[in-house]
Amino acid sequence: MDEKDIEIIKELGFEEITSKQMSNEYWKERAAKALAITTQDREVYGCLDHSRGEGVKIYDIEGREYLDVTGGVAVRALGLRYPPYLEFENRINDVVRELPGMDFDAIPQTLLAERLGDIAPGDHKKRVVFTTSGGRAVEGCLKSAMDLSGRTRFVGFRPAFHGRTGYALALTASNHKHKNGYPQGIDVIRVSYPYCYRCPYGQQVESCNVECVEALQYALQVEGTDIAATVMEPLCGEGGLIVPPPKAVQGMYDVTKEHGAYFISDEVQAGMGRTGKWFAIEHHDVVPDYISMAKALGGGYPMGASIGPAPMFTGGSRHSETFSAEPKMSLLSLWILKQIEDGDYLKKNAEKGEYLLKRLEEVKENNEVVGDVRGMGLMVGIELVKDKKSKEKAPKLRDRVIKNAVQKQGLWILGSGQNCLRLTPSYIITEDELDSAVDKIEKAIKDSA
Ligand SMILES: Cc1ncc(COP(=O)(O)O)c(C=O)c1O
Repeated sequence: MDEKDIEIIKELGFEEITSKQMSNEYWKERAAKALAITTQDREVYGCLDHSRGEGVKIYDIEGREYLDVTGGVAVRALGLRYPPYLEFENRINDVVRELPGMDFDAIPQTLLAERLGDIAPGDHKKRVVFTTSGGRAVEGCLKSAMDLSGRTRFVGFRPAFHGRTGYALALTASNHKHKNGYPQGIDVIRVSYPYCYRCPYGQQVESCNVECVEALQYALQVEGTDIAATVMEPLCGEGGLIVPPPKAVQGMYDVTKEHGAYFISDEVQAGMGRTGKWFAIEHHDVVPDYISMAKALGGGYPMGASIGPAPMFTGGSRHSETFSAEPKMSLLSLWILKQIEDGDYLKKNAEKGEYLLKRLEEVKENNEVVGDVRGMGLMVGIELVKDKKSKEKAPKLRDRVIKNAVQKQGLWILGSGQNCLRLTPSYIITEDELDSAVDKIEKAIKDSA
């Protein structure tokens, strides 16, 4: 932060801010006393400088540079302060942005809804509800499925992450801390996520008869078939970056349909072209009834969408959200969608993802504690284990690797699940930067193992 940025804070009435206070420890201590909670460990991460950052480079307030492979947890498709984005944002700065997009009509949200309907798989008639978060995008789908089906039960997976509030929290199962002590607002029949590296049914990929799909059939037989929908991440993000085999996803879809229910693909993290297709479910050749999306859709602004089958709700006022799809945000989302298309990012993400996985396979070969590497496009995970044979999960090692990567290697990286590292970089990341990220990860693993 330079004098100009400090001046802005002073103008807001915080006279005491001095450049001498620009230390991570000082601001982390202050944050701990003011903020109720942070999801990541302050022991690991520095205090980010909100006035600096370009592309995949972010900085803490002591001026330390980091290579960011989180992409703002899959938010920043085009990286930080992408110049053409800033230019476009400046051009639309004086639109009347304070129009509630789901209460009254205006052109931007209609165009955005049409565009999302077009890129979402399937030729069926679709409708869109806009939201301000991923969890609410999931909730929009859940409420619609209940409204249209007249049923209130859902199939969910373990692990799974769909949000931390209301109905979405009830579908979530990735960390007991999210759920302990909170009443679950909806009835969920839970089955295991198709997780081939640790098949819960003891199967090997070669001999698998999709026992996970059989388990869903059995669960419905014994728990009840009156389900409104099955809710599935087409690529499990927060729960451990798990790539399910297409035949398992197709099987889950077929069983869902046998019971007259809807299939919801939660693409909050994996959607918007990240995996090399607009929506990750397309890799599985399944046309879902619903898609929830957010994160990269807003390019840093809180923007989400629930896409569902027409009419989606049985009547007006059945669902809405005050701040959703304001004109400026809708125009920005349209711009990002066009950039992803014009810049051929679906193809580029697929290619870069392949390259990244190839490099990580080498890391796996050379390191006994790397049990598995997997992903689709620019959504990639590394599973750390005690050793390859036992596959025993190594959560403490994972935490040490993250700490080392951030503090010693200057790599801004997140974990996922109990023992995995997660890479969801911005689409503008170069092969050289991916190489650098892989080298830093390997160094952090070697230092920590
Ligand atoms: C698949 C998925 N669904 C839902 C959510 C919740 O999104 P939000 O935090 O914007 O509510 C997330 C967040 O990481 C996610 O990854």
